[in-house]
Amino acid sequence: MKFETPATNNPIDQLKIVGQPVDRIDGPRKTTGTAPYAYERHDVARNQAYGYVLGAGIAKGRVTAMDTAAAKAAPGVLAVVTTLDMPRLEKGQLNTASLFGGPDIQHYHQAIAVVVAESFEQARDATAMIRVSYARAPGRFDLAAEAPKAQLATGDSGEGSGAPHEDRTGDFEGAFAQAPVKLDATYTTPDESHAMMEPHASIAAWEGEKLTVWTSSQMIAWGKRDLAKTLGIPTESVRLDSPFIGGGFGGKLFLRADAVLAALGARAARRPVKLALTRPLVANNTTHRPATIQHIRIGAGRDGRITAIAHESLSGDLEGGGPETAVAQTKLLYAGANRLTAMRLAILDLPEGNAMRAPGEAPGLMALEIAMDEMAEKLEIDPIEFRIINDTQVDPEHPERPFSQRQLIQCLRQGAERFGWNRRNATPGQRREGRWLVGMGVAAGFRNNLVMKSGARVRLDAGGRVTVETDMTDIGTGSYTIIAQTAAEMMGVPLDKVTVRLGDSSFPVSAGSGGQWGGNSSTAGVYAACVKLREAVAQRLAFNSVEAEFVDGQVRAGNRSAPLGQAAGADGLVAEDTIEYGELATRYQQSTFAGHFVEVGVNAATGETRVRRMLAVCAAGRILNPKSARSQVIGAMTMGVGAALMEELAVDKRHGFFVNHDLAGYEVPVHADIPHQEVIFLDEMDPVSSPMKAKGVGELGICGVGAAVSNAIYNATGVRVRGYPITLDKLLDRLPQVT
Ligand code: MOS
Repeated sequence: MKFETPATNNPIDQLKIVGQPVDRIDGPRKTTGTAPYAYERHDVARNQAYGYVLGAGIAKGRVTAMDTAAAKAAPGVLAVVTTLDMPRLEKGQLNTASLFGGPDIQHYHQAIAVVVAESFEQARDATAMIRVSYARAPGRFDLAAEAPKAQLATGDSGEGSGAPHEDRTGDFEGAFAQAPVKLDATYTTPDESHAMMEPHASIAAWEGEKLTVWTSSQMIAWGKRDLAKTLGIPTESVRLDSPFIGGGFGGKLFLRADAVLAALGARAARRPVKLALTRPLVANNTTHRPATIQHIRIGAGRDGRITAIAHESLSGDLEGGGPETAVAQTKLLYAGANRLTAMRLAILDLPEGNAMRAPGEAPGLMALEIAMDEMAEKLEIDPIEFRIINDTQVDPEHPERPFSQRQLIQCLRQGAERFGWNRRNATPGQRREGRWLVGMGVAAGFRNNLVMKSGARVRLDAGGRVTVETDMTDIGTGSYTIIAQTAAEMMGVPLDKVTVRLGDSSFPVSAGSGGQWGGNSSTAGVYAACVKLREAVAQRLAFNSVEAEFVDGQVRAGNRSAPLGQAAGADGLVAEDTIEYGELATRYQQSTFAGHFVEVGVNAATGETRVRRMLAVCAAGRILNPKSARSQVIGAMTMGVGAALMEELAVDKRHGFFVNHDLAGYEVPVHADIPHQEVIFLDEMDPVSSPMKAKGVGELGICGVGAAVSNAIYNATGVRVRGYPITLDKLLDRLPQVT
């Protein structure tokens, strides 16, 4: 099905099941421990051996020798494969760093060996016996130090966030020079780790030349293609299966070393091999969100109208990588005739930088939305009013392109009322509750809505049961549930008459999970397949397919009616289709919006920040399931608090690696850090986005949160911190005197 004109009325609009806050259909399996994750697929292949991956102990240089004699002779060892045993493997299309092979080391903890043994402990012990000799080369590990050498770089996060290396509208410099009120400030965000609960893990088994990998991947088709390319085998020879995923956040978008080394280990050992990356390897072997240094200049008239806005960002990556697209939202979020965005890329020899939840916008808004707060203060305008004054209903660089929907003002106004914004004192440092300095902050949330081609197969059996098969993934988001809701609504059956099977590369290729495109796109694919199945049902029953209604397990047309299952017959009925998108996605700017509100207390003596209340008001099209969507948003808000207050991969600038490479050293919020969160979804439908009229919401929830926390800290204390995370040491000696 080609989606080329805005959606009109369709069966989804009944909203009997879609749009309802139904519980997750995979919930019982998740909560009883019977949803198997990659490392737990004990039953899929007999006689599984254990693999253990060795990461390089240098960040740059060469492996000159590897002594594996002791490892090979160690108890239980079945095979040892080292990087010197094979030439550098071809890179997957989406990988920046090579995953294995050859002597050259591009980054710390690059995989240099896999040991396969009868038990995990034997594999780990033997790995420790490998002696590696290196020729170390000097590396570049300090973003600020490399800044002078950084080049302008075009970037595309691949997730709907991108910008040319430099983009100008009007005359920024002239307008900025003349602006009566201006801000010129620099903000920094650190390297961050996805730190998902489930590490990267794979079980690989060969049958002749055919390879099956049970893994943990957000994007099945990408993984299959790139694994085949890396191993130099035909794509058709690879099957990937990933039905349950314990978080990805962008870290599992692309093929990683676990799948490659499980496959190589299994080939060498002639046994199925299972392996997981250890925590240190998750941080240093895979990808991370790159640090940024962002320079923002805003000029405005005394009326609060922005006349000039510039956002320039510097980030680093390995040779061949791209910039963090932190300027992307600044192209679209606020009006202003004179505009400049630019991105610079410094070549660094740190592990690969890549997508992490809302790449571009998440760190970009952490800077821009503090700048907006600072500017509002200079203008003596309420920060919400300042944003409203500068709202735009069209792409400010291309005014002929309207937003398909844009309810930012409504998000901010409704949030202000709900949160009690009128109780905020505009003068910082005024509200004291015992030892706590209390303040409120706001930020706009913005994230583009990407639509992706997505396929599905739907089966109907004689009992009226509907089975959906698609290689879509559920990374903890609720895909199973919204897909079941879609199929149930379309076929007129209750939810428990639907089975959903996901994550297998033998199913039709879907949108996958990334860039908050998964929910809308994958259900639209299921919608398309169900439209075909409805036609097939009507045809079988010799009903008029235009008139046919699918209600309560029955099909009705005119005065005729039949049970749905009757159409299936003994052999069943199958339909398959793919939703594809036409020009609508470019004619309109499709984005999602939020108002993020935060109240914090800052301990006047210790400088500790405690978040007290959070509210997100989101405008993100039709909400397919308010319960799972809310879970997505509160998870993202929590991650936003982490980014604001805790998360930072500490760079060892001498040896070039992330030091705090485990969940003890890499701090993320726990329940005790997050007291009260509320989420409101505005009533919205976007007929331009898809037949589902939905948009993405999983990343919108993090976009702007960091700045809202930061702005609340400023309101509480009068201390402006422009470098994340806002740890107590950055506040301590600047806090108001405790009396
Ligand atoms: Mo993307 S960072 O996997 O949503």
